[in-house]
Amino acid sequence: MTMIGKNINELATPELVIDLNIVDQNYKTVSEAYQSSHLKMRTHTKNIKSPFLARKQVEAGGSNGGVCTAKVSEAEVMIEGGFNNILIANQVVSNDKIERLCSLAKFADMKVGIDNLDNLKNLSRFAKKHQVTLGVLVEINTSMFRCGVRSSKHAVDLAKAATELPNINFRGVMSHQSIKQPNPSEKERWNIGEEYIDTFLESKRAIEESGIDVDIVSTGETFTFDIVLKYPEITEVQGGTYALMDVNYPYMPFDIAAKVMCSIIDINLKKNQITIDSGNKCIAAPNFAKPILENQNADLETMSLDHSIYNVPDASKYNLGDKLFLLTTHQDGLINRWDQFIGVRDGAVEGIWDIMGRGCYH
Ligand SMILES: Cc1ncc(COP(=O)(O)O)c(C=O)c1O
Repeated sequence: MTMIGKNINELATPELVIDLNIVDQNYKTVSEAYQSSHLKMRTHTKNIKSPFLARKQVEAGGSNGGVCTAKVSEAEVMIEGGFNNILIANQVVSNDKIERLCSLAKFADMKVGIDNLDNLKNLSRFAKKHQVTLGVLVEINTSMFRCGVRSSKHAVDLAKAATELPNINFRGVMSHQSIKQPNPSEKERWNIGEEYIDTFLESKRAIEESGIDVDIVSTGETFTFDIVLKYPEITEVQGGTYALMDVNYPYMPFDIAAKVMCSIIDINLKKNQITIDSGNKCIAAPNFAKPILENQNADLETMSLDHSIYNVPDASKYNLGDKLFLLTTHQDGLINRWDQFIGVRDGAVEGIWDIMGRGCYH
């Protein structure tokens, strides 16, 4: 029996739903900002894990037609989904994954982040063996200290090596940064974003000063979506969370589209608590983060695997079977828990799409 056209309340819970009006609006916000600007969105797909959704940004405008992935396996999914301009915004180090990357380079313009000379030489060795060319972007660490070169000198050395090694095409530089403050003021957000981007661009300029052309200047995420516009040197933005959003960015001009619809299965009038049929199995809550019940004055008491208990001011206001919506603190983890998106518009199911990149860990 098809669910298309059915009222959302007829869905069995828990269920991952995405509000398509909100997705469209989030993509429109990007399109309006970037369409006639010097830079374009290269949507990161590590969170949406769906070529279908990535294509919606391309169609909305403001995109360069390419996507980012975090993994080779996600890139495989995006190529199957019709994309041919891919940046793996990460390091690909093991030989088996490099060989898979080389295989993809026969079908798409493949680019990958680098921060290590041995890794770069290995990329070159396998690219030569498979008679392909791999594009590389030197990853610059600005704040996260997980990957990326830590100095402009290292960036220049790697860029030079990339221009000399066979079957490697030096394309440019990339960075990604995160904001740790939960609710920064506009001034704080801009100061933090500008500081990181300035650090990033220092390395880019050092590479150019050494006589090497930098074609792609790829940076970003959701919290610097508007800050990047200030920098004429930036060519593309790696936005991810903005598409479906989570509760971490109430200060950004994007709304939350991805929610888990759940049902109340127990009401404790004595303690003013409600229990819902959704827990950590269907909504990722790492680092003790607290998922929020949308539009409810409810505070999470405990979340286990299949249940969550929320404290509410007056439990008698609720009925067994009432439907509520859980909002996540971590969109990537949420989407990766599900096989399908249920696309909903104005309360009715409009489409159901496989989350093709789900479980692509390699
Ligand atoms: C390398 C890289 N670029 C871009 C992003 C997207 O960031 P955001 O989800 O904040 O938009 C991420 C997210 O983790 C990332 O790792």
